[in-house]
Amino acid sequence: MKRICVLPGDGIGPEVIESAVRVLRSVTDELEFKYAHIGLGEFERTGYPITDETIQQMKGADSCLFGAVTSSTDEEYKSPVLRFRKELDLFANVRPIRSLLPLLGKPYMDLIIVRENTEGMYTQDEAVDLDGVTTFRRVSRHACERIVRFAFDRSQSWKKRRICCVHKANVLRKSDGLFLEIFREISKDFQGDIETSEQLVDSAAMSLVTDPSRFEVIVTLNLYGDILSDVAAGMVGGLGFAPSGNIGTAHSVFEPCHGSAPDISGKGIANPTAAILASAMMLRHLGMVRESDSMQKAVQSAYSSANLTMDIGGTKDSEAFTDSVIDAIMEE
Ligand code: NAI
Ligand code: MG
Repeated sequence: MKRICVLPGDGIGPEVIESAVRVLRSVTDELEFKYAHIGLGEFERTGYPITDETIQQMKGADSCLFGAVTSSTDEEYKSPVLRFRKELDLFANVRPIRSLLPLLGKPYMDLIIVRENTEGMYTQDEAVDLDGVTTFRRVSRHACERIVRFAFDRSQSWKKRRICCVHKANVLRKSDGLFLEIFREISKDFQGDIETSEQLVDSAAMSLVTDPSRFEVIVTLNLYGDILSDVAAGMVGGLGFAPSGNIGTAHSVFEPCHGSAPDISGKGIANPTAAILASAMMLRHLGMVRESDSMQKAVQSAYSSANLTMDIGGTKDSEAFTDSVIDAIMEE
């Protein structure tokens, strides 16, 4: 039995997580789900966006499944996502982007973005002075080494043969320069096995839109990975299609890339695909490869049968789409 800490969160978080848990239950009875609170709702109830007990609960689980939270401008509200990424030391954010259906005018995509997940611009360390604000951006050798090594090691198990280092070392010569230097150092250990390339982040954003086949794996810093993965998600149908995994040495949290989508929350129309695919990533991470493949195939077959969700012009709401994924699992 594997213990899963489930954190539905705010907005469409609980809606897509409910779908994902239904699909998980249909594919295995080897999971035990324990629910916990996170986000703005929790902050309004308790004064904390995530409590110490929840962090402990996450640490004690075999893995975690997270929906989304709504941010707040309240000074007291500190991002619970940044907190759990830090406290669980989830240094790698893995974001696979794959086309599930042909979309008019959009090229086929199949690539994985590996994003540094603990530092860069995401330290929430900002100093206000009389004339403005200075944001501290941390790039450490330790963090660069482990994310780059992770990307190379995983590329081999993903059967990917090309890694592109995406950076802005022409301007941020020291910080991004350090990241690039470490990428070059580590790539020597994989010479002959993995082909490497380097690209500036702005031009990489353009290539994602014009010629994504040049990428198999992208390894990049925190902010760039956040932005590029949404660009890539847009190329495969939108944020409802982009799953992600936050992975550390001891812990892991899987989540859709999207936020709480207040514009569609409560309507039952959110696309649960990203949350379902994130759950499939979680199963693979837990060694349940057969079940993970079965979920992924079921999602693919739901789309192949023109079973479209509303975000891409179809008629299926969250529940109907989830039902069709479960039907595909049962038919296997
Ligand atoms: P968002 O990702 O929530 O929504 C962006 C757009 O994509 C919206 O039009 C939304 O309707 C659509 N969308 C997102 N997920 C969808 C799905 N599953 N199916 C169909 N359409 C979907 O980003 P937004 O609007 O910028 O942020 C809303 C809130 O979420 C903010 O408070 C933000 O801070 C928070 N947020 C939280 C994240 C997290 O919990 N990891 C990540 C990103 C944003
Ligand atoms: Mg994002």
